[in-house]
Amino acid sequence: MGNSYFYPSLARDAGTCDRGQAAPLHGAYAGENVPNPLPQERNNQVSVMNLIAALESLAPELERGLDQALDLSKLEEIRVEFLGRKGRLAQIMARLPELSPEEKPAVGKKANEIKARLNTLFDAHKHTLEKSGEKAYLTRFDATLPGALPWLGSMHPISQVTEEICSVFEALGYDVVDGLEVETDFHNFQALNFPKDHPARDMQDTLYVNEGVVLRTHTSPMQVRSMLARKAPPLAIVAPGKVYRRDSDMTHSPMFHQIEGLLVDKGISLRDLRGSLTAFVRRLFGPAVGVRFRPSFFPFTEPSAEVDISCIMCSGKGALHGETCRVCKGTGWLEILGCGMVDPNVYKAVGFDEECTGFAFGLGVERVAMLKYGIGDLRLFFENNVRFLGQFA
Ligand code: DAH
Repeated sequence: MGNSYFYPSLARDAGTCDRGQAAPLHGAYAGENVPNPLPQERNNQVSVMNLIAALESLAPELERGLDQALDLSKLEEIRVEFLGRKGRLAQIMARLPELSPEEKPAVGKKANEIKARLNTLFDAHKHTLEKSGEKAYLTRFDATLPGALPWLGSMHPISQVTEEICSVFEALGYDVVDGLEVETDFHNFQALNFPKDHPARDMQDTLYVNEGVVLRTHTSPMQVRSMLARKAPPLAIVAPGKVYRRDSDMTHSPMFHQIEGLLVDKGISLRDLRGSLTAFVRRLFGPAVGVRFRPSFFPFTEPSAEVDISCIMCSGKGALHGETCRVCKGTGWLEILGCGMVDPNVYKAVGFDEECTGFAFGLGVERVAMLKYGIGDLRLFFENNVRFLGQFA
């Protein structure tokens, strides 16, 4: 490239130069003082020759500059110096009005040519720099290093357990249905045989939205909604979802998840309830798990029972390494769900024939997940600590 090229520049000395009274032509790049090779015009007026010479000198001068641009930021500096709004080319063009109308086209044409040339030089150098940057990166790149694993999301353990439970019942022919989290007093209580002001309502610390509207305290209203929707038996549904109670400690949370089950037909007996739920529990916790039905009370079932499984931790022995088992507190049993034969009052509330028979059940998903995975504090499920959740990925 033209190393020893002399060139004129038309940079004006700020403040000393008025229009029509041009500063003497002079030029310097990178600190060099280069004598102006062009003859000065009479009375300092700029001439066509003078401007064209200035324009022509730009390309070799840019080449010299580019030789020194070893990175993209330096390259940008040079681009601004030559092609910027107040750059060298613009400065030359600012003198154009000093020419006569006949002189202007020749200089304008030259300026366009030079501008295109400058851009080409500039783009080529930019391309070279980018390519050599890539090459430098590739030589620094060590393909033998272990890869950085991207963060992968996964299904929340509560969703996993919900899906697992629902799929057991789906395989038995049950439909999975979705419900509302804000319920009427009728669906949440009255139709389920909890009369107004009845002490049975004390079993569930209720969050009221307003008179007659509650955050559902259980998924049991889906029994009512499913029967109202189907109008007549047979039906078999499971309804997973969020429920709300005014309760908070290591084993209770104001929001938790339940799965409701309901099967109604004619001639359904307690044996069907026992057989179905035993099969379900063994599918979930393994064939060796002990299952027992213990009498209990729920307003919407009669008779009612709670299902216990033999303790997962101590295999039902009540003790582990000579000490009382912490999980079952020495009883050898863990409560897993509530169930019963649907109370005729519920059929009456939804307009079902009182001849029909069926069973219902309800379980807490967090409780099942805690037992399944040996988790002591339910709040872990809701803190969204990825180190905890990552264990279920
Ligand atoms: N809804 C009850 C509760 O949240 C659980 C339950 C018990 C549901 C017995 C049932 C059932 O369907 O038959 O405490």
